[in-house]
Amino acid sequence: MNIRLAQVEDLVGMQACNLQNLPENYMMKFWMFHTMTWPQCSFVAEDEKGRIVGYVLAKIDEPSEDDKNEEIHGHVNSISVLRSYRRLGLAKKLMLLSQEAMSSIYQASYVSLHVRKSNKAAIALYRDTLGFEVAKVEKKYYGDGEDALSMKLSLKNS
Ligand code: ACO
Repeated sequence: MNIRLAQVEDLVGMQACNLQNLPENYMMKFWMFHTMTWPQCSFVAEDEKGRIVGYVLAKIDEPSEDDKNEEIHGHVNSISVLRSYRRLGLAKKLMLLSQEAMSSIYQASYVSLHVRKSNKAAIALYRDTLGFEVAKVEKKYYGDGEDALSMKLSLKNS
């Protein structure tokens, strides 16, 4: 298994992986926009034949004119690993590489994400393995009415 930065050529494989694993899906222009705008913080895992078996898609949020108190931070839009490649540590590695790039390349002070309240595997990854904390619960965040946990991890001492 090889983990490396996502390239434009990987986008079809990343999108296919996302479609298999999650109900939150995005048009190709969304994948393209993220990897071209923040080319250092999205990563893929590929098998020995070069097939994409996992990815993390992430972005950087800059403080807006209206909210100068906000800090530069990373945001994980989506992560998934194909079912037969789970519990091998791939998601952990993808997240750590993205977090490291957010901090060292983009000077992000923290990383945020949303996760379904019922997604036990992902919550365990974020909270128990990576040290994220729940910042707030966003009621009916998802299209089907499920609440999201808004989670954050400081990157300041990373
Ligand atoms: N049950 C409990 N804990 C789990 C599970 C699980 N099924 N899967 C992972 N973990 C936790 C464990 O603490 C694990 O460490 P351990 O194996 O030493 O016990 C740790 O996370 C690291 O696990 P990895 O092997 O790195 O995780 P994996 O590569 O299997 O991917 C993921 C985890 C991404 C959640 C995978 O299950 C998946 O693709 N699920 C479907 C898509 C999804 O839910 N994505 C997240 C949506 S939220 C978002 O995208 C921001």
